[in-house]
Amino acid sequence: MNLLFAATELSPYAKTGGLADVLAALPAALRQRGHSVACVLPLFRSIRETLPELRPTDLTLSVPLGTSLQSARIWEGRTDREIRLFLVEKEEFFDRTYLYGPPGGDYTDNASRFFFFSKIVPRLARHVRPKPEILHLHDWHTGLVPAFVRSERLPFRTVFTIHNLAYQGNFWGLDFPLTNLPTDYFSPAGIEFHQHINCLKAAIVFADRLTTVSPRYAEEIQTPEFGCGLAEVLRERRYKLSGILNGADYSRWDPARDPLLPAPYSASSPGAKQLSKDRLAKQVGWEPFRAPLFCLISRLTEQKGIPLVLEVADELRKEGGRLVVLGEGDPGLEERLRDLTRLFPKSVAVQIGFDEAFAHLLLAGSDFLLMPSLFEPCGLTQLYALRYGTLPIAHETGGLADTIVPWDPAEARGTGFLFQAPTAGAFSEAVRKAKAVYQNPAALQAMRQEAMRREFSWEQSAESYEKLYRQLVE
Ligand code: ADP
Ligand code: GLC
Repeated sequence: MNLLFAATELSPYAKTGGLADVLAALPAALRQRGHSVACVLPLFRSIRETLPELRPTDLTLSVPLGTSLQSARIWEGRTDREIRLFLVEKEEFFDRTYLYGPPGGDYTDNASRFFFFSKIVPRLARHVRPKPEILHLHDWHTGLVPAFVRSERLPFRTVFTIHNLAYQGNFWGLDFPLTNLPTDYFSPAGIEFHQHINCLKAAIVFADRLTTVSPRYAEEIQTPEFGCGLAEVLRERRYKLSGILNGADYSRWDPARDPLLPAPYSASSPGAKQLSKDRLAKQVGWEPFRAPLFCLISRLTEQKGIPLVLEVADELRKEGGRLVVLGEGDPGLEERLRDLTRLFPKSVAVQIGFDEAFAHLLLAGSDFLLMPSLFEPCGLTQLYALRYGTLPIAHETGGLADTIVPWDPAEARGTGFLFQAPTAGAFSEAVRKAKAVYQNPAALQAMRQEAMRREFSWEQSAESYEKLYRQLVE
């Protein structure tokens, strides 16, 4: 099949979270299965600065944006996985420091930026050869594409993947003319949601198929608790909704061949994990130590349950436990984390910022990964942590529930620690269990072995997507 993916992130060129990792890995896994896959993204500044051999095509596309006609030059490149890339050049929209806005905020013209991108995508699809049969769209920035495909009766089938229901692309109704859609699209049966334009809702209503990134999250989002206001809209369309678990990209995330670690290790030869722990200690200014090390690698947003980490900090630090945090996002949360390291410099280290190399060392050098997310569509960090023998302590929700086997002392099995309610009490209890396992070398070893041997391959996900595409083309 011929597939065109459209999204706003792609590792390692433009990344704020797991979406970027999915866009790097899934097209490559589909190509392995014999499909032709290309991706289209905005030509963000970070892509222009980091993607080698970017070249202009002779294609310039123009689309209406409200009362003006706006053009974009199309550039072409290849990812490090040899996936063909189309990039939409529009300097005034995309040549900026951040993808979506400065930390904790949005650019005020995001409606124009991403409506424009969503208009260009189907227009470009008409020029791409081989001609795509399926447009596979990701998250709200491409949410209007299915509405444009429908209104213009274009010959593409659309698949839309919800990576995160909390980000919907909500804009006031006065922006509707910017879509240039027929006026009846601005109605409760269309893209309107409480007098606003809702790009995610547009996708839910108009895409041929909807997926999300774990089976558990596919169920959860149909409930008021997790539905972010759209539960009813989703429930009415459950016939076209499915959950397909993400994979982990072991070509980038495997301690047996990770160039960012001091020495390789694996399930069959785990000894050198300790060297990563020592290197990590040195890097944050500590002497090597023998006590449980917890880490947090995360966007600092409400979703990730960061206040819970602050609340259990005392429990983590008991019996010599230490915490290293890598994250950026909400300035208030950043400040509270900085306060913690000011209070406890010998047991808490915090690095604010986005640092891929440090993320690798942190995963390898830690004993436990904290993921108290209030909701988690899939979560990739825990998948990587498992392969690095770093046991996740996580809220039992979404993809965390689908990928972590809770520790069962009776059977001496499990790959992590799950707690049911997102409360400091339940989280502390899970931390205590983890520390008990840490004190029991045989149990710790058994858990690490099981975790490192778990396989979350992209091949399996790619096979599921392939089945879905086939239903649509046949
Ligand atoms: P989400 O997409 O919700 O942020 P995921 O767990 O799916 O969560 O993916 C997060 C990805 O972003 C992982 O690859 C993780 O290593 C990475 N990441 C998050 N924060 C940082 C950071 N501050 N520095 C480096 N990598 C980070
Ligand atoms: C989103 C979700 C995360 C998921 C990622 C990739 O950012 O928050 O859970 O793993 O997308 O699908």
